[in-house]
Amino acid sequence: MGSRLVGYGSYLPERVMTNQDFEKIMDTSDEWIVQRTGMRERHFARDDETVVDMATIAAKRALENAKLKIDDIDLVICASTSPELDFPSVAVQVLGKLGATKNIPAYDVRGACTGFIYALHCARAFFTAGMHERILIIGAEKMSRFIDWSDRSTAVLFGDGAGAMIFERSTSSYSGIIDTVVMSDGREFDMLHGSPDHHIIMNGPETYKKAVELMPNAAQYIMDHAGITADNVDWIIPHQANLRIITSGAARLGFPLEKILVTVDKHANTSAASGVLAIAYAFDNGILKHGQLVLYPAFGSGLTWGAALIRV
Ligand SMILES: CC(C)(COP(=O)(O)OP(=O)(O)OC[C@H]1O[C@@H](n2cnc3c(N)ncnc32)[C@H](O)[C@@H]1OP(=O)(O)O)[C@@H](O)C(=O)NCCC(=O)NCCS
Repeated sequence: MGSRLVGYGSYLPERVMTNQDFEKIMDTSDEWIVQRTGMRERHFARDDETVVDMATIAAKRALENAKLKIDDIDLVICASTSPELDFPSVAVQVLGKLGATKNIPAYDVRGACTGFIYALHCARAFFTAGMHERILIIGAEKMSRFIDWSDRSTAVLFGDGAGAMIFERSTSSYSGIIDTVVMSDGREFDMLHGSPDHHIIMNGPETYKKAVELMPNAAQYIMDHAGITADNVDWIIPHQANLRIITSGAARLGFPLEKILVTVDKHANTSAASGVLAIAYAFDNGILKHGQLVLYPAFGSGLTWGAALIRV
C-alpha cells in the first residue's frame, strides 16, 4: 500500500515586508540579511488574518486542484506552531470553514519547522496500514505573531503562509509519500523555543550548526533506505530556513545547485509551511513536474528533524 499526490494548494498573505522595510524600523541592512540568510522579502498576515484563515484557503485550493470536495477527504492533519487558539485544532476549524458535512477526523501536529514532515510521516503510516483513503495535509503558520521587534537577530527571519497537499491511497509504493523519517532531541530545547510571552528565543549560531548537520543526515538516511543517490532525485526541496544552510547541506549530499529549490528569498522561514509552500511555488511556476522525485529534509525547534521522499 502506498499513496499518490492528487492535489496541492497554497496561500501567501498580500502584505510583503522587504529587507528595506526592516531597515526603516531597526538597525539592520538589506546587505546583512541577504548575505547571512538569502532572504529578501517575506509575507505577513493582516492582524485579523489567522492561521485557520490561511490554512482554509490553502486547503480549498488543494481541493480545487484535486477536483475534490472536503467530504471526499477522510483525514485532515495540520502542522502548525502558531495557532491563535490553544483548542480546538486548526485542522478541525478548517473542516468547519470548508463546510464539511461528514464526521472527518482532524488533528494538528506540532513539530515546529519539521511539522509538515511529521504530518507526512503519520499519513504514510495510515496509508501503509490501509486505514485512510484520502488525506489532506496542511502546513500553516503566522510566525509574525512571535516576532520580538526589539531583537533584530530573529525579527528578520520569519514569514507567514500556508500550503496543503492531498494524497490518495494507491497500490504503488513508488509514488506519493514513498518514505519518511522523523527524529527529535529534547535535550537541545534551549537552542530554539517560544517564550511564555510568545517570542522566539534562539541561539542562531548553535542552531545553524545543528541544522547543517542534521538535515543532510536525515536526507542521507532516506536515500540509503530507498537505495538511491542524489542522481536519482529530481529536486531537493529543503525546509527554507536560510540559504546558507540549504546550499551547504545540499552540497554535502552531492546535489548540484540546479537541483536545489530555493524560496527563502521570497518567503523567508515559514516554519511548517515552508516546504509545502516551496513545492506549490515550484508547480505553479512550471519548475516541478508531476512524476518527479522530491527529497524534502527539515529541521526545527525541539530539536526536531526529518526528511520525506515524495514522488509528486
Ligand atoms: C541568525 C543567523 C542568520 C545569524 O548569523 P550569524 O552569522 O550566526 O550572526 P551572529 O548571530 O553571530 O551575529 C553576528 C553579528 O550580526 C549582528 N546581527 C544580528 N542580527 C542582525 C541583523 N538583522 N542585522 C544586522 N546585524 C545583525 C549581531 O548583533 C552580531 O553583531 P556583533 O558581532 O557586533 O555582536 C544565523 O546564525 C542563522 O541562520 N542561524 C540559524 C537560524 C535558523 O535557521 N533558525 C531556524 C531553524 S528552523
